[in-house]
Amino acid sequence: MKKNNFHTILAIETSCDETATSVLAVSFGRDFPKTTTLSSVVKSQIKLHSKFGGVVPEVAARAHVKNILPVTEQALAEAKIKLADVDYVAVTAGPGLIPSLLVGVEFAKALAFALNKPIIPVNHMLGHLYSPFARLPATSYQLPAHLFPMVSLIVSGGHTILALMTDSKHYRVLGETVDDAAGEAFDKVAKLLRLPYPGGPQVSKLAAKAKQPVNFPRPMINSKNYNFSFSGLKTAVLYYVQNNPATAKSSQLKANICAGFQNAAVDVLVTKTMRAAKEFKAKSISLSGGVAANQKLREALQATSYKLQAKFFVPPMNLCTDNAEMIGLAAALMLNLGIKPKKPQTIKADPNLQL
Ligand code: KG4
Ligand code: ZN
Repeated sequence: MKKNNFHTILAIETSCDETATSVLAVSFGRDFPKTTTLSSVVKSQIKLHSKFGGVVPEVAARAHVKNILPVTEQALAEAKIKLADVDYVAVTAGPGLIPSLLVGVEFAKALAFALNKPIIPVNHMLGHLYSPFARLPATSYQLPAHLFPMVSLIVSGGHTILALMTDSKHYRVLGETVDDAAGEAFDKVAKLLRLPYPGGPQVSKLAAKAKQPVNFPRPMINSKNYNFSFSGLKTAVLYYVQNNPATAKSSQLKANICAGFQNAAVDVLVTKTMRAAKEFKAKSISLSGGVAANQKLREALQATSYKLQAKFFVPPMNLCTDNAEMIGLAAALMLNLGIKPKKPQTIKADPNLQL
């Protein structure tokens, strides 16, 4: 333990198209660490990929190579610490795009090796899972037992996971998407409607202007498990667009489609989360991942939680989409649990890492 009991984590995230570095001061506790975010820098590559209508892995990796040093320098400067003050290096080891992951992982390994500091490989989805607890007073040493069981919905561009947390340390996956992820469906629908990348924010912006939302199917809403499917919903939108050629030139028709699609996606996500919350008698519900930035989903899940008298946790908007702060928080939790950090030489990127 250090003199003031505070340890510094430098966290790095490059799993997709955001180059991000964050510095956290951590003080370990009995159940939960107390974390203070000293800096959190995110350099987005949206402009670079928008002309391709999606993330191009090699373009993303090259941009990470260019950005990783300036972003890390900025995070250290904003945190007002020197490299020598870093106690642990944390990095997203997967899942994600392998060319992107490799940049962050190899950079973190070189840094930890040169500094002779241990490294903590973090599962990106664990970062999302814990992101609702960043910057909460509850992160002061414990997440109270009365918040559990907690049903957690993680909705990102690559994953849709419903998990059950029995306490702040234990969780299990209840269900996942069997095809497209929720964010992926938003992005594909946006592409069908020729809206710019990334599609999620565009679809929800346009949906707000709808006069008559189109009625789309709600795949697997009544299935007896906690899995999801969004590929059929996306295909229903495709057929609708093909059968209504006027869509291409009418922003009103596009708005009606966006609202119909968003209603269907949110309905399925909320219905299944609510069913799980009822079955497991959840005391709280959490929402995270890029799609958690969707206002309609946030409001619907908050209303559901209220109805079930469950507490609702959702990160602020800037912690829904990819960032390094959630990776630092997950690393702090792992250390607090007694998980041993690794020697830099021993870790490697894994694009298919499971939660
Ligand atoms: O978590 P994230 O930043 O990256 C992954 O780990 O995949 O999530 C990105 C996804 C994209 O698919 C994006 O379209 C979606 O989150 N997204 C949204 C919104 N903002 C971002 N989807 C719906 N509504 C939004 N407001
Ligand atoms: Zn993510």
